[in-house]
Amino acid sequence: MTRPPIRILILAGGHGRGSNMQAIIDACQSGQIHGRVAGVIGSVAGSPALDRAAAAGIPASVVPFTKDDFAGYQSAVDAAIRSFSPDLVCLAGYLKRLSPDIVRELDGRIMNIHPALIPAFCGQGMYGERVHQAVLESGAKFSGCTVHFVDEGYDTGPIIMQAVVPVEDDDTPATLAARVLEQEHRIYPASAALFAEGRLRIEARRVRTLPAPVG
Ligand code: GRF
Repeated sequence: MTRPPIRILILAGGHGRGSNMQAIIDACQSGQIHGRVAGVIGSVAGSPALDRAAAAGIPASVVPFTKDDFAGYQSAVDAAIRSFSPDLVCLAGYLKRLSPDIVRELDGRIMNIHPALIPAFCGQGMYGERVHQAVLESGAKFSGCTVHFVDEGYDTGPIIMQAVVPVEDDDTPATLAARVLEQEHRIYPASAALFAEGRLRIEARRVRTLPAPVG
């Protein structure tokens, strides 16, 4: 039986480049992911991610971030998510905590990518250049990136896929970030592709990848 293509919703960060979102859009268009990006939610109109969505003809919603009413903001995000009826939600540079309601409702259907090897160099406040700076300061010889399912914590959900890169002696946060980003663009679409094929099974903390069906 052929599976129907999945509807993917991207939650983009306010000021991110939208490059992971683009990698997922491209992977849908090339057929690597059996699905399509049905919508994008951003928090700042005119952000690079929303510009990319417009260029790709993908419907977008803007949910402005309201610092003094975080619960109200979360409910507005929840409503926007539900309005797209997604099969899969991919966070791409989205830094805000999702409401416990939506996390429960879409359990096992929300993914995030983090630019380090979870459970190291992650958690609240660990994003962007800070991650790579912390890796360099630690003296670690390897870093990488992690795609994981989202639970109610920061970067604590079950790990789907990781890629490892070497830390070079002359690395700066920027050069390390660029090496990691290249791998992000590979493993995020690959994870979404496995999800679309129904090949990810969560067993407690571990995510098992089921073999591809024969024929
Ligand atoms: C990526 O480094 C990702 O790992 C992190 O946020 C960044 C988003 O970059 N969660 P982009 O907007 O996808 O280019």
